[in-house]
Amino acid sequence: MVNTDKASESRRVASSDDLEVSAYLEIAQEKGSATSGPEGSLDATREAVLVVDFGSQYSLLIARRVRECNVYSEIVPYDAPWEKVAHLKPKGIILSGGPASVYDADAPLAPPWVYEQGIPVLGICYGMQVLSHQLGGQVAPTKTREYGHAVLYQNVAEHPLLEGLPPSMPVWMSHGDQITSLPPGFQSLAYTDSSPVAAMGSDSGFYGLQFHPEVVHTPQGTALVRNFLFNVCGCTGSWTPGNFVAESLQRIREQVGTGQVICALSGGVDSAVAATLVHQAIGDQLTCIFVNNGLMRREEPERVDRTFRQHLKMNLIHVDAADRFVDQLEGVSDPEEKRKVIGETFIRVFEDEAKPLGQVDFLAQGTLYPDVIESQTPDNKASAKIKTHHNVGGLPKHMSLQLVEPLRYLFKDEVRQVGLELGLPEEMVNRQPFPGPGLAIRIIGDVTREKLEVLRSCDWIVMDEIKYSNLYHDVWQSFAVLTDTRSVGVMGDFRTYGHVVAIRAVTSEDAMTADWARLPYDVLAKISSRIVNEVPQVNRIVYDITSKPPGTIEWE
Ligand code: XMP
Repeated sequence: MVNTDKASESRRVASSDDLEVSAYLEIAQEKGSATSGPEGSLDATREAVLVVDFGSQYSLLIARRVRECNVYSEIVPYDAPWEKVAHLKPKGIILSGGPASVYDADAPLAPPWVYEQGIPVLGICYGMQVLSHQLGGQVAPTKTREYGHAVLYQNVAEHPLLEGLPPSMPVWMSHGDQITSLPPGFQSLAYTDSSPVAAMGSDSGFYGLQFHPEVVHTPQGTALVRNFLFNVCGCTGSWTPGNFVAESLQRIREQVGTGQVICALSGGVDSAVAATLVHQAIGDQLTCIFVNNGLMRREEPERVDRTFRQHLKMNLIHVDAADRFVDQLEGVSDPEEKRKVIGETFIRVFEDEAKPLGQVDFLAQGTLYPDVIESQTPDNKASAKIKTHHNVGGLPKHMSLQLVEPLRYLFKDEVRQVGLELGLPEEMVNRQPFPGPGLAIRIIGDVTREKLEVLRSCDWIVMDEIKYSNLYHDVWQSFAVLTDTRSVGVMGDFRTYGHVVAIRAVTSEDAMTADWARLPYDVLAKISSRIVNEVPQVNRIVYDITSKPPGTIEWE
């Protein structure tokens, strides 16, 4: 799929859309339920390129770059046996970088199938060194680790891997070892000041790059990846949102058969797209459950109802459980405790609603690829963080559902493209992330009905002004926080003693890090004056100018 939206490139709302549903994912997995995936039912015409992962922080990025060229890509561990990956019928293999040195005692090396299947191979950084090492070349440590920008000079007049690239171009390096002697049958294709072999190739379909074409600091990197895919592997770029949808519909039908499926809609993009795909595949075999937890933005429950029941004609159970949630939250002011209460209450409500449906076989949900990868990497710090957000709620004792996860292999921006392809409203597909526990974690201290109403009014104004100023898509999130501080003010001739509201707006690529958005002063001024004028309980507005780290995006 072509990713044209730079801002949303790595937009991965780690946890925002499907908080509660994720609890079910863990449950179902613990119960050993099946998860959907391409195994065994892949469209034979789909072109796939494998990224063999040696532990690089950029493996996901490599897969992203390949997919940007409309070629499907999946990441597999370096020790995956051929039987586990053969169903993908790869047309190319990319060996990722990694922190090891090929001479480490337990250095991860490529499995034999990488060399035996006759499939073109591109090694990147450590992946190149692995190729060289295993094919008879020499790799040795550099005197000093080469890190950062370098200029790549081509050695060859013409080469399919370098087609259309300038004779010299900036690239980004990060390595401690380098090739000192090429394996037999290889030629050096390019060099940098510090690396005599910065790119290499052989006639038998093996290529290596010492630099990282997948990072933005190598501006022509995607062109290089494209050359590998199209000129070397013979891919045609047929992986498009339309083809993905057609393929998914077929796969969902195969998996579900005549079974009954439930799906919890959160109002977020992921569950919306997953439900829509499943609905298009199996129609009324799907029942969606939307729980209004009373912690949503103004008009949000109505919007979800309108979209899914009226517009998309889905079976929708709309549960107004606002009182149940708010009652449960009474007196709870600790952020993690709030999450726990909300998660547990959700599970109970969901169970109550699912019971009368009778036999249900499947749970559809919008798990995304980065979450799948992160959950496969237990020592990944990012995954620990996301888990914290998800780790809410207890386990329903009796439910044993198989998972339908049509988005399991997609990145966030691909999900958005699929959403548009399915005809979901643009406004829903490109909405800013909203956390599962909703406004409860934007009210500092205990949550009451009155405070929720105050915050909803402030939030409405923030959204209104941000949208009016055309800033909605420029910022990652923008919202109001009801602090637990009150301050003295003056209105007309009267003293006021009201709430202090903080405005938070951040820019971010992936929510893992963020910066406070430099909103124009006049937009801030408008937000401030509207809130203090329109929301009587509030008399002071402050703007949060903390980045993440050390702050977090949400206040709780
Ligand atoms: P923080 O506050 O950790 O947030 O910087 C990062 C992203 O995650 C969202 N977030 C949550 N999403 N449940 C969710 O579904 C949660 O408990 C939760 N806490 C934070 C936050 O809105 C931001 O997009």
